[in-house]
Order: sequence, then structure tokens, then C-alpha cells
Amino acid sequence: MERIDKILSSQNVATRSEVKDMIKKRRIVVNGKTVLKPDEKFEPETAEISVDGKAITFKKYVYIMMNKPAGVLSASTDKHAQTVIDLLPKEMQRRGLFPAGRLDKDTEGFILITDDGELAHKMLSPKSHVYKLYRAAVDKILTHEDVTAFKNGIGEFLPADMKILDEHTALVEICEGKFHQVKKMFNAVGANVTYLKRLRIGSLFLDETLKTGDFRELSQTEIDELLCTKHGI
Ligand code: URA
Repeated sequence: MERIDKILSSQNVATRSEVKDMIKKRRIVVNGKTVLKPDEKFEPETAEISVDGKAITFKKYVYIMMNKPAGVLSASTDKHAQTVIDLLPKEMQRRGLFPAGRLDKDTEGFILITDDGELAHKMLSPKSHVYKLYRAAVDKILTHEDVTAFKNGIGEFLPADMKILDEHTALVEICEGKFHQVKKMFNAVGANVTYLKRLRIGSLFLDETLKTGDFRELSQTEIDELLCTKHGI
């Protein structure tokens, strides 16, 4: 059971002091009864809550797929640069949201924004074997020796699949998320990454219809796909 002011503020409906004011004005109804005090408690997942007659759907957690643009930080807040959270409209910026895993400032593509720490941990831990797929463009001609070097494992990194798409472009699949990992792996075979985009997490591909900077919430099936361990390119 949770206080109604806490439930509504967690859902970004209003701040706790705004909820107090709404209660005074008799605007909140739960399970058919007008709420009279902010400390009244309800079961958040089952209570039928409405504000001004409009039903509120309680979501314990949110899961947002964003096509991150280059130039935006994958962080929750930053004093100077725009973050992926800043790209969300105010009404979606509920407390506790964070990008699950880092993409470099100049990397584009699939970033998951959530407030579900447990799922994020599972998705990111190398032990979970959740593979992330990237497309990289590089400044040298890629060879089959490079593919073998990736397969054998480069330096501190686990063996990785790389598939050459054309002379300067490749797909790479990794289940770790070490700092600048893809760039460092290519550097080790003498290539500089000139463009990097994350295309897939687990078995869930970035929605092709999302333009850079666009986002949408995920369905339950898609959330499950984030933790899929199958891999191979
Ligand atoms: N590897 C990198 O080098 N950069 C990213 O943003 C993601 C993976």
C-alpha cells in the first residue's frame, strides 16, 4: 500500500504538494471514492485512480527505446550538454529514469531509458550474455584477418563477431560494454571508427521508423526481447 500523493508523483501526474491541492479541490477519485487526505493508502497496481474523471494507468516502470542522435550525452543530467533525458517531453521525465548503458557522445542509435534498475543490470552485465549489435564505419579497408582478430579476442575484450559489409563498414556484436569498446577494438587492428550506431540490444532491433532523437515506449514482448541471449551475425 502506498500514499496517494506518492503514487501520483511517482507517475509524474503532479508533485506531492500539487496532489495536496488537488485533493482539497476533490479532484482525485480512487476505487469510486473521492480522496480526502494525501496520506490515504492504496495498492498502486490495482487501485482505480482518476483525476478530473480521467483514469490514470499505473506503471511500475517505464521502458523507452530512443534513437540517440550524435552530440547528445547518455546521462541523466549534465550541467552543459544536452542529455537523452532532456530529449523526452517534461511529462515523460519521471523521477529515476536513466539511460541503461552508455553510448559515446558521437555514437547514434538504440539506447534504452528506464527506471528499472534490475532489468538494466541484467541487460548490461557481461555475465548475462545479452549481445549488442553495432554498425561501424572505419577509415581503413577491412580484411578477413581483422575478422579473425575480433574472433580470437582483442586485448582485454572477449571474443567478438565481426562481419564485413563493405570495405569500410562492418557489423560487430559484443556483450560487454567497456568504455569505447568498439572503437578500441577497431583501433587494435589499425582502424579508426568514423561512425558508430547501435542497432540491436538482445534480439530487439532499433525501430527503423524512429528518426534520430525520436523515442517510444516498449511493449512487454519487446522488453522480454531485450534480455535475449541468442547471438550471431
Ligand atoms: N563502443 C564504443 O566505442 N562506443 C560506443 O558508444 C559504444 C560501444
